[in-house]
Amino acid sequence: MTSSSILVLGAGELGMAVLHALADLAAPRGTRIAVLLRPASLQSAAASTLAERGIERVPGDLLNDSLSTLAGIFAPFDTVICCTGFAAGPGTQLKLARAAIEAGVRRYVPWQFGVDYDVIGRGSPQDTFDEQLDVRDLLRAQQGTQWLIISTGMFTSFLFEPSFGVVDLAQNSVHALGGWDTAVTVTTPEDIGRLTAQIVFAQPPLANQVVFTAGDTLSYGQLADTVDAALGIQLKREPWPVPMLLDELAKDPDDNLKKYRAVFAQGNGVAWDPAVTFNVRHQIAVTDVAAWIRQHLKAPATNR
Ligand SMILES: NC(=O)c1ccc[n+]([C@@H]2O[C@H](COP(=O)([O-])OP(=O)(O)OC[C@H]3O[C@@H](n4cnc5c(N)ncnc54)[C@H](OP(=O)(O)O)[C@@H]3O)[C@@H](O)[C@H]2O)c1
Repeated sequence: MTSSSILVLGAGELGMAVLHALADLAAPRGTRIAVLLRPASLQSAAASTLAERGIERVPGDLLNDSLSTLAGIFAPFDTVICCTGFAAGPGTQLKLARAAIEAGVRRYVPWQFGVDYDVIGRGSPQDTFDEQLDVRDLLRAQQGTQWLIISTGMFTSFLFEPSFGVVDLAQNSVHALGGWDTAVTVTTPEDIGRLTAQIVFAQPPLANQVVFTAGDTLSYGQLADTVDAALGIQLKREPWPVPMLLDELAKDPDDNLKKYRAVFAQGNGVAWDPAVTFNVRHQIAVTDVAAWIRQHLKAPATNR
């Protein structure tokens, strides 16, 4: 199977990275690339940069359009790649997978650019993960549409998002989710874009499997050491044990960040050996956490 036409759903941070990387590889192969955008977003500045690269813009609304309308939009494409995350709300990922199957697209890449949901299983602190398993069950139970799942771990920048609370430079603190030996796999959206394009164009084609990537896999202890060494600072280290994070979540059961903290702290399915990844197997250079810090962070003035 060769992909002669690819539709990407969404052009946010991840969708843009995937689209630009696909466009780099598509031109010499004569592959048609399109992006589905809400009608209101078709004329945005970001959409214009895509048009300049020869990427077609297709109007659609993943939340409000019916399943059969979406199937009609997907049908002309060989491969559909979902890059919207949970932005369109609960139930959307299952609806999109059903639409891809109804459309008879040859290969569907669902929004699964995250953790290893098979290992985490149902009933985890992050309830939206159950829908990811529903999507896997649906795709695995049929033969009409091939599927490809790309497991990337957390976006690297999320480790440094103050609201998430792992590394908070303004507070000069680092919190271990679970403990200092708990590990996490991360990949940057730019690398996810490049790797997704190479995975989609790989020969022989990849289908009906989970492909792993990793910019880095490290424990929270190694993360703290890496930040200290890269910035010449000494962060205050405080572990957030699983029972504490589950108590916090029980007090605030709808808090999405608390759900993520608890599920990452449990340490199941959130980290894998880089040796199993597409990037290591194909010797593709990626950005590790130390390089990400050098590119994006400076030590706060008070710590220098
Ligand atoms: N793995 C991680 O660590 C991690 C970290 C951060 C985020 N995430 C997840 O990643 C997801 C995607 O990331 P991102 O940063 O690329 O998100 P984003 O920048 O918010 O992009 C979401 C995209 O989906 C589109 N969209 C939303 N609702 C839509 C609808 N009803 N119909 C059509 N398009 C719709 C948006 O279009 P508009 O421009 O029209 O709104 C936008 O293009 C997030 O939702 C989040 O779940 C994961």
